[in-house]
This record gives sequence, C-alpha cells and structure tokens, in this order.
Amino acid sequence: HRRVAILISGGGSNMAALLESMTGDHPARPVLVLSNDPAAGGLALARAAGVPTAAVDHRPFGRDRAAFEADLSAHLDRAAPDILCLAGFMRVLTAGFVGRHAGRMLNIHPSLLPKYPGLNTHARALEAGDTQAGCTVHEVIADLDAGPVLGQARVPVLPDDTPDRLAARVLPWEHRLYPAVLRRFAAGDRTPVLLP
Ligand code: GAR
Repeated sequence: HRRVAILISGGGSNMAALLESMTGDHPARPVLVLSNDPAAGGLALARAAGVPTAAVDHRPFGRDRAAFEADLSAHLDRAAPDILCLAGFMRVLTAGFVGRHAGRMLNIHPSLLPKYPGLNTHARALEAGDTQAGCTVHEVIADLDAGPVLGQARVPVLPDDTPDRLAARVLPWEHRLYPAVLRRFAAGDRTPVLLP
C-alpha cells in the first residue's frame, strides 16, 4: 500500500472522507494525521478511526516557518508517507518544504481554480456574480493554490446564496472529489477527476 499522511487544521471532514475511503482494494492506507492546531477536532476523529496522530502548534514559532516545518518534518520522516494530503490545512508552506515533497503532495481548495486562490473563496465567487462554484484538488507547488489540477467538482450558484450556503453546497462535493482523486493518484493515474 501507498502510505498517506493527512495534514489538517480544523474539523477534518475532508480528512474523515479520505480515511473512510482507504479500505479494501484501495491502493493506499493512512499512516498519520498531523495538525498545526492541537485542538483541531479532526485529531479526535482520526484517533477514533485508529490512525496515528500528532500536532505541532505553529504559534510558538512565530514567523519562523522553517523551524515549524522542521518539527512537522520530524513527524513526517517517522511516518514515511508516499503521499501527503492537505485537507483544510491553513498554514502556507515554504518553497523548501514543498520542494522536498514535490510530486506527492495534494491539496483541496474550495473554488474552481485558477479562480480565487487564497481565502474567502465563496464570498469572492458571489461578489463576482459567478453562476458556478465548486472545489479543486491540485498538486501542491510553491505558488499558493497554483499546482496542476487533478480534479474539480462544480455546483450551481443559486439566487439567495450566502457564502455559508454556498460552502454548505460545495463541501459534500469536496468529500466525494478528494477520495476519488486520491484513489487515482495512489494508483499512479493523474487524469483529472471531473464531477458531478
Ligand atoms: C474545506 O472547505 C477546504 O476546502 C478548505 O477548508 C475546509 C476544511 O474543512 N480549505 C482551504 O480553504 C484551504 N485554503 P474540513 O476541515 O472539514 O475538511
């Protein structure tokens, strides 16, 4: 099996979808869930699923991203993942860290990239008057939210949408898209997954 580490910052609903998918004939298995927030709800979910967890609180490191990443890397080195999945991981990673994991790090982002990299994606889609929104899984490169697209899911924007309502419509598609992309990627297939 391909060894998968999942990096989270929060509730971990995408992490949970990934964990649930990695059974049976799936080519990968989870080996570590790693959070930058020791209070992240996803850590308890992972422990309940029997997956090893670790947390490296980024706050004591201040602006020293390299030192924070050195601690992250110590955990990752022990787990020896073949694939890293960022799943609601809200820290920007340095080019050095990304380079050490080139070609094996994925991220899910709540917009139809290349539209709306960064934060507040749903509010920005509504402000722009977009008629479609969605989510993207992409390979991570040093530029934020800019790597090759490995999958996208589209949803309609509805007349009464708010950022929260749109997020609630997109999130279930994140939970379908990310496992579908990981399954292909772990099997060595980088053909984009297009949903629905
Ligand atoms: C998800 O919507 C994910 O796409 C987004 O954070 C949420 C995490 O939810 N990620 C980003 O905004 C990355 N910049 P989860 O913890 O329940 O998976």
